[in-house]
Amino acid sequence: MATARVVRVRAFGGPEVMEMATEELAPPGAGQAQVRHAAIGINFIDISQRKGGGYPLPLPTGLGHEAAGVVEAVGPGVEGLRPGDRVAYINAGIGAYADRRVVAADRLVPVPDTLSDEDAAALIFKGMTAQYLLRKTHRVAPGEVVFVHAAAGGVGLILSAWAKALGAVVVGGVGSEGKRASALAAGCDHVVVTTAAGWPERMLAATGGRKARVVYDSVGRDTLLHSLDCAAPFGLVVVYGGASGPAPAIEPELLNRKGCLFLTRPSVFPHNADPADLRANAAELFAAVAAGAVTAHVGARYALADVADAHRAIEGRQTVGATVLVP
Ligand SMILES: NC(=O)c1ccc[n+]([C@@H]2O[C@H](COP(=O)([O-])OP(=O)(O)OC[C@H]3O[C@@H](n4cnc5c(N)ncnc54)[C@H](OP(=O)(O)O)[C@@H]3O)[C@@H](O)[C@H]2O)c1
Repeated sequence: MATARVVRVRAFGGPEVMEMATEELAPPGAGQAQVRHAAIGINFIDISQRKGGGYPLPLPTGLGHEAAGVVEAVGPGVEGLRPGDRVAYINAGIGAYADRRVVAADRLVPVPDTLSDEDAAALIFKGMTAQYLLRKTHRVAPGEVVFVHAAAGGVGLILSAWAKALGAVVVGGVGSEGKRASALAAGCDHVVVTTAAGWPERMLAATGGRKARVVYDSVGRDTLLHSLDCAAPFGLVVVYGGASGPAPAIEPELLNRKGCLFLTRPSVFPHNADPADLRANAAELFAAVAAGAVTAHVGARYALADVADAHRAIEGRQTVGATVLVP
């Protein structure tokens, strides 16, 4: 029987609650595949889940939603996948912080030869998030003003670059001056520091008074009320995360007063629950990568055993782009 080195959480808390463990791995059953991870993507949701936020996971638990690697074995009934195939996944259940893992084979997508394992792990969860935000939640059209919060973050760099490639006028929000250059390099036309008072006014000054057709807000508590002031009449405000804490409740009447706005709170998981949707969405992402609209940006890499340091850096708002773990 194969063994796996995995991260285990036995009590919710700070980065120190993540412990390495070695576990036996049952061989893949019907419809399953065993994957040796080459790179694992860290996502902000991992931090919330480690702390026990939202709907707390049953303990003990693993962590992590995305990885890229190589198929080592497949179970009965699996077609179209062979040992040696390079794959990546999201939405295969919690537990990607591991050096190998058994997952449902229909959660795996092939990785193009042109992408490294680290780039695939940096792209699949965050890029699939950008894919539905830009192509489904709202189909971004040329000339529209789009506001992207945390524009120098993992999702943010991809979202900004892809929105720019779709022809939008992209305004990025960053938490500190040091991230401005990264957001501009990704494709933002303008960047405002959203931790400074009066940032919506500076956003309007940058665009010559034009408000955003869509605001992508992943910061939540600290920004949402101001995001409403950045959206054009009949515009859309998308709350897709709460890096600063849960977004405040919004009375429908406030949406009326701010310009008959639309407000939504979507998630990458239901958008990719159906295996056919997953494959189609991944194909659209990889096509955007092939066209040069989206590039992976691995800002930092850590050994799997050093995952606590990686979490500290992300929570400390020190990271730019994606952070990957290498088993
Ligand atoms: N709904 C979905 O489908 C979905 C899918 C993927 C990700 N997300 C969300 O998208 C966001 C980005 O995810 P990511 O994995 O790419 O993370 P990330 O953007 O690399 O890191 C989070 C960023 O949030 C900003 N931030 C603002 N206030 C913060 C605070 N109090 N503490 C820490 N960070 C703060 C920081 O950027 P600044 O310093 O520039 O402000 C930080 O870099 C997260 O909120 C995540 O939950 C949602």
